[in-house]
Amino acid sequence: MTINKIAISTGGGDAPGLNAVIRAVTLSAHMRGWEVVGIKDGYNGLLFPEKYPGGGTTLLTRETVRGIAHLGGTILGTTNRGNPFDYQTKDADGNIVHQDISDRLLNGLQEQSIDALVAIGGDGSMAIAHQIAEMGVRVIGVPKTIDNDLDQTTATFGFDTAVAFATDCLGRLHSTAHAHDRVMVVEVMGRHAGWIALCAGVAGSADAILIPEIPFDIQKVVEKIKSRNASGREFSIVVVAEGALPIGGELQYLAHGDVKRLGGMGQMVTDQLRVLVPNEVRTVVLGHLLRGGTPTARDRLLSMRFGAAAVRAIAEGESNIMVALDPPTVRYVPLELCTQRTKTVPLDGDIIATARELGIALGD
Ligand code: F6P
Repeated sequence: MTINKIAISTGGGDAPGLNAVIRAVTLSAHMRGWEVVGIKDGYNGLLFPEKYPGGGTTLLTRETVRGIAHLGGTILGTTNRGNPFDYQTKDADGNIVHQDISDRLLNGLQEQSIDALVAIGGDGSMAIAHQIAEMGVRVIGVPKTIDNDLDQTTATFGFDTAVAFATDCLGRLHSTAHAHDRVMVVEVMGRHAGWIALCAGVAGSADAILIPEIPFDIQKVVEKIKSRNASGREFSIVVVAEGALPIGGELQYLAHGDVKRLGGMGQMVTDQLRVLVPNEVRTVVLGHLLRGGTPTARDRLLSMRFGAAAVRAIAEGESNIMVALDPPTVRYVPLELCTQRTKTVPLDGDIIATARELGIALGD
């Protein structure tokens, strides 16, 4: 099949590196003489073009992608409410109505003569990309998430930047915790995987790290804090993944309007510690700060590699695959394999062993 025009969509939560992928896809497609358009706000630009005064897609040229690689966010916009196969609206009574409006997406792609789609996103976006490919569209997935929880790829872009920022924050919290003899409980994102908490916690010399993969006993954290107090180190840093859970306990969620998201475990740990240790205990929630900022060099390089590989894959006639990091190379993995499980922290891996060997309490 001859390719003349491709489209890019960015879906789900933003992550540092999205703009670098957009730039890499655009430049390498232009090298092959293809035209590139960006779909605004996930697939919304094609689903509801009438809502966009300037049109739901935007032409991506060498000029429009100049100087964007270092920027956080996405120049295309994104959404995690735009699944064309399960589009959700509310009826007059406030009940959620589910609709399959994927035909609109197909029409939009056909009307614009788009020959292939590069879908950049996390597990939700990869599942949608697979469904679109099954409808006969040529689709290549690019793995994005700060959580690093997408299966079949050694890394997703955005993760390294999130870990670097969290590690920097832990450094800053050390000095103030030390100065005031406080326990600082730091909650980080990551959904049901402990990658950010564990990697930032080890790199940032945390004293305890609580991750979803290891249900925790608060007494183990108390023991660690008390033993530090006894040795004259009367401050501690406790990193808590938002998806961590106590043994026999429950996940914590916060409601943000209609949206319910993981959150609040840091505060719960703080509340428990306050009555169990003599130190003053404070909570810091890093939250969406982890999604912002300039991508690290590692993330920018990965984004460029993924973007170029996605275009290469289209040129090679591939479809229904995700580009995946498999050092030292990038390989193609069937999209349907990428969403069958969440890539969690392996308990027999060396990062867990390292944490234990450094004396970090993991709550077990
Ligand atoms: O998947 C990325 C992520 O930032 C998670 O770590 C977090 O649980 C979730 O998105 C938050 O999503 P939202 O911005 O929609 O609240």
